[in-house]
Amino acid sequence: MNIFKDKLGRIITSVVLIVLLFVGVVGYVGWYNLFREVPTYYESSEEHFKYGSIGTEQAQGVPYWIWLVLPRIFPDKLPGPGGYTSLGMTWEEGKEMPVGFTKKTIGFPRVGITCAVCHTATYRKSEKDKPTIIPAGPTNKFDPQSYTRFLGNAASDPRFTADYILDEIKYNHEFSWLENLLYRYLIIPQTKKALLQQKEDFAWMDSRPNWGPGRIDPFNPVKFNTLKLPKDDTVGNSDMMPLWNQKMHKNFALHWDGLETSLTETVNTGAIGDGATKQSLPVADLQRVENYITELPPPKYPFAVDEKSAEKGSQIFANTCASCHAFGGERTGTVIPTEEVGTDRHRLDMWTQQAAETYNNFAEGYSWDFDNLRKTNGYQSVSLDGLWLRAPYLHNGSVPSLEDLLEKPENRPKVFYRGYDVYDPKKVGFVSDGSEAERVGFKYDTTVTANSNQGHIYGTDLSGDDKKALIEYLKTL
Ligand code: HEC
Ligand code: HEC
Repeated sequence: MNIFKDKLGRIITSVVLIVLLFVGVVGYVGWYNLFREVPTYYESSEEHFKYGSIGTEQAQGVPYWIWLVLPRIFPDKLPGPGGYTSLGMTWEEGKEMPVGFTKKTIGFPRVGITCAVCHTATYRKSEKDKPTIIPAGPTNKFDPQSYTRFLGNAASDPRFTADYILDEIKYNHEFSWLENLLYRYLIIPQTKKALLQQKEDFAWMDSRPNWGPGRIDPFNPVKFNTLKLPKDDTVGNSDMMPLWNQKMHKNFALHWDGLETSLTETVNTGAIGDGATKQSLPVADLQRVENYITELPPPKYPFAVDEKSAEKGSQIFANTCASCHAFGGERTGTVIPTEEVGTDRHRLDMWTQQAAETYNNFAEGYSWDFDNLRKTNGYQSVSLDGLWLRAPYLHNGSVPSLEDLLEKPENRPKVFYRGYDVYDPKKVGFVSDGSEAERVGFKYDTTVTANSNQGHIYGTDLSGDDKKALIEYLKTL
């Protein structure tokens, strides 16, 4: 009897051990293939800015292999030929990922976005020129709305199946049998589900005007999706902003309407707004981004400048613009009431007192908690460093060039094309009309809601010669 009991005991112990071992192995394999985080590190701060993770891959990352083949399976859902480049993405020579996109392994390789997707500009001196990439510049080409829509529309298509996708991935990469299993039964179905959910979360966009390249409704996604505030009918469409030279912007308001006063919080809200979560926010990596944009100088104007004329222009600037725009000007970097500056007020009205309070309570208990979000009554008199590359101008990007901005609103272009990156040194802005601009660009109509080009009439009364000299000076900022 005892012998039998001992044997039974041993068998039970063995079974328990085998089961534990099995659970352990399965657990480890599962963790390794689905959750194991492989840190990415870039020696250079610029590479870190362009390609380093800001914590978006965990919740929002698209599995790399799926991301890679989607444009080949669904070219019909892109705005034009050329795959992702038709959405305004830019590849540097020899780089696997476009500027502003990460490839990071969390279990399996995932694609996330970085600050650089919106905060990197390109320009060309002529149509035949290669794009020059300027990190921290405001993108004039990338269209985040069309990218979001592309992913959502692909996921709703009946061809978004494991069979289709795995067949297409075979052209690039051979999966192990385990990877095949994981992709077929877990990763592809889960990706479809997540992208469909994202499509639903962004359905509110469809009842409002399109953003077009280089623009975004920056805080309605935060209000509706991150803070879970009720949907309202505001339209916040606004132009991207440059990030360089922050050390000269100390104590300036941040964002077009000055809804923030702390740079660190603005950097962290940038990452949260793009899909990082409270748990995944990489505070030290973001500090590195902050240091980078603090020290980075603005880019120099790449064409000739008439120095004599610029010198005359500097006097005109001192008399008509400096109080709001020069470093040290008494109102530079402060919020100017909309009644005074007179530009379109939709972007201002999009952000509410309730949203500011809710965001300030969002991360209570975290070391990086937000406290400095606020509601204002106007737009920031932004500093004009690197002004030439900030085109199109004003917070909604409604005025294509400096020459146009110095015209009375009724004489500014009513319709023009954005998203073409050939530069026009005569008007000082990107080429915004003509066949190529129309072919590549997005038709910007100033009569559409939130697109008005009214207001900011400073300098519009100057003589033709004075305007010329002023523009010459503005090129040097
Ligand atoms: C999806 C596009 C997008 C991404 C990604 C993005 N931003 Fe922005 N950012 C914007 C836009 C648009 C504005 C201006 C929005 C407004 O106020 O209307 C802005 C404004 C800012 C400003 C204020 C600049 C000023 O002079 O007032 C800072 C600073 C900033 N972003 C930093 C970041 C950082 C750092 C990241 C990455 C962690 C980031 N952003 C990611 C679109 C983006
Ligand atoms: C009373 C303050 C004030 C004065 C004076 C003023 N501006 Fe502005 N400026 C602003 C404000 C506020 C904005 C942002 C308005 C908006 O985007 O809706 C702005 C925006 C701009 C922009 C757009 C920047 C961008 O990134 O798109 C340019 C360019 C500009 N101003 C040039 C000038 C010039 C040139 C003068 C002098 C002829 C001048 N401003 C005079 C307040 C002022």
